[in-house]
Amino acid sequence: MFDVTQNPFVYGEVVPAAAFVDRVAELERLVGDLAAAQKVFLISPRRYGKSSLIRRALAVMTRRGALTVEVTVSSFSSYVAFLEGYARALVAAEATGGRARTWLREVIGSARAEVRYAPGESGPGAVFVSFPGVRSDRDISRLAVDVFALPGRLAEARRRKVVVALDEFQAIGGFNGGSVEHAMRAAVQHQRDVGYVFAGSEPSLMERMLGPKRPFYKAGPVMRLEKIPADEFVAFIDARFARSGMRPEPGLGAAIVELAGNLPYDVQRLAHETWDEVRGRGRRRAALDDLHQALKRLLTEQQMMFEAVWQRLTLAQRAVLRAVVLEDDGGLLSADVRTRHRLGGPSTVQAALAALVRGDLIARDADRYTVVDSLLREWVARRTF
Ligand SMILES: Nc1ncnc2c1ncn2[C@@H]1O[C@H](COP(=O)(O)OP(=O)(O)O)[C@@H](O)[C@H]1O
Ligand SMILES: [Mg+2]
Repeated sequence: MFDVTQNPFVYGEVVPAAAFVDRVAELERLVGDLAAAQKVFLISPRRYGKSSLIRRALAVMTRRGALTVEVTVSSFSSYVAFLEGYARALVAAEATGGRARTWLREVIGSARAEVRYAPGESGPGAVFVSFPGVRSDRDISRLAVDVFALPGRLAEARRRKVVVALDEFQAIGGFNGGSVEHAMRAAVQHQRDVGYVFAGSEPSLMERMLGPKRPFYKAGPVMRLEKIPADEFVAFIDARFARSGMRPEPGLGAAIVELAGNLPYDVQRLAHETWDEVRGRGRRRAALDDLHQALKRLLTEQQMMFEAVWQRLTLAQRAVLRAVVLEDDGGLLSADVRTRHRLGGPSTVQAALAALVRGDLIARDADRYTVVDSLLREWVARRTF
């Protein structure tokens, strides 16, 4: 059936099943590990598809009868706020309303929990948990021990498997440094009916967290999520254009994946915007020219943001960023490249590269640097000098 009303490409949110590509082996492995109550670490740069993969794995586990809980650690502004949000997510999995309150009272001995229940206008309402009495670091540490024990209590009380996903887990480091890691590790290792997935978007932080002297050392299997194989992504794009009633010009899918640097988010974004371009012109053929129009429009929309990024960079960083964009072979430290782009000495180049990596603008991909955001890469290539 042709459906030209609905864009089949999705970006900026967890992908729904219909726009989910590949990850067959990864999904199977993650589900298997979670079913075995392992503590899994899932690592990749942002926008590779961790949250989307987790969502699918949790859906499978829910179908198999597990209780699942998902919390994004980076969305909280303090340690206590995180503990409140985490407790709330767990309570919501346990029950609604009055039962939740009783349950939380029983299991949290260290702090008086306030549980509010706001009935929804339609369907189930929302539970709110707060710990107003918790002030000192000692209070917080005690509370953390109780909250981190909740998943195990939940599994016991309900006689069900529990799966907990803590997304953007690297943000835990901002709360209380080592003590959070310690408390979390101590709690989870005894929970034999609870599978955990700790997902992190800053690979270097996450790898350090798993190092020999840290609490999570050897706590569980580590999955490093790679990009989706380009040929599968290309086939998916061409097929979805066709299925939505647009005939893709040969090579369109490949051009999109290439231009997007095969970053899943960027691939879906370019495909989505190209599809809109074709539909906006009321045509049935999706051409390379539509892709270029979409790219031009996106660059214009992002112009202000890219200018702001550019202005925050030092001159040395700007020159190095341009060299990363313009040099394919990656030999940024060679005398030849440094002279051509007026980069200065090797140590200047290295310092600039390090700053750009820290700012998440470039990343090391195998043995060379690439610009993380493919639109920024195109903008730098076209609009800077
Ligand atoms: N398996 C997938 N198939 C197709 N697109 C994907 C897939 N995983 C991620 N994406 C694309 O990447 C975007 C970011 O995915 P997300 O799961 O939020 O990444 P992360 O959690 O690693 O930052 C999604 O909105 C979607 O456009
Ligand atoms: Mg995510």
